[in-house]
Amino acid sequence: MDIFEDSIRSVARVAESCGLAPYIRRAHLGDAAGFEPDGKYHILVMEVLQRALEKEPQVALTRVLAPHIAAGGFLIPEEVRVYAYIGNVDEHFPPKKAPRPADVPRHHLGDVFSLTKDSLGDVTFEEIVPGAERIRARTIEVGEFAVTDYMMMLGTDITLFGEYKIEEGESGLTEPFVLHNMGPFAAGDTVEIDYILDNFPIFEAKVRRPAGSGLISR
Ligand SMILES: C[S@@+](CC[C@H](N)C(=O)[O-])C[C@H]1O[C@@H](n2cnc3c(N)ncnc32)[C@H](O)[C@@H]1O
Repeated sequence: MDIFEDSIRSVARVAESCGLAPYIRRAHLGDAAGFEPDGKYHILVMEVLQRALEKEPQVALTRVLAPHIAAGGFLIPEEVRVYAYIGNVDEHFPPKKAPRPADVPRHHLGDVFSLTKDSLGDVTFEEIVPGAERIRARTIEVGEFAVTDYMMMLGTDITLFGEYKIEEGESGLTEPFVLHNMGPFAAGDTVEIDYILDNFPIFEAKVRRPAGSGLISR
């Protein structure tokens, strides 16, 4: 299933050259969000994602298609997990092509979002404007931390199936990045991280500062 005809043709070529063409019952050209299923599926494989589930519609399409997975069936990737941490940008993103040292200090903040076949079931989607919704992914109390020149970063790891995983830094999809448009924050702040679900999904963070701290709330 693909919205782009060249991709459908390319899958057909790959299947043909691997001798798998007889196993393809049908190819669907069109928006997967409008796909009419003809039954329940045992395995749903989707690859419409970039790092941290941004830019591409993996979440939007999971919401539409996961309900068509048969009981006991699988979604692949099984889980896409997005997590946050605080770290020093220069240490985390060394000059061109230098590998990131394994022991760069970081202050872990835990998971922000996890996408599985069931995880959207109890999520509240709040409409912002027609065509755009917000999910409150996580509210983080930023405790004490010891990293200087810090920024908040998002990392991704992907469990394809069981023991088969793509972990941090093993692909472009699991490369961490600095959370955009967030601005400075300090120990004691609260950071609200939302996932904005529209044609170009992104994570968005707002920093709230405790009243009476003498600092201006953002
Ligand atoms: C990251 S690519 C992966 C393509 C394929 N897995 C491959 O390796 O060639 C994502 C694909 O999703 C398709 N796509 C994006 N949004 C879609 C939608 N709403 N419905 C169907 N296909 C979509 C794009 O056209 C693109 O071919």
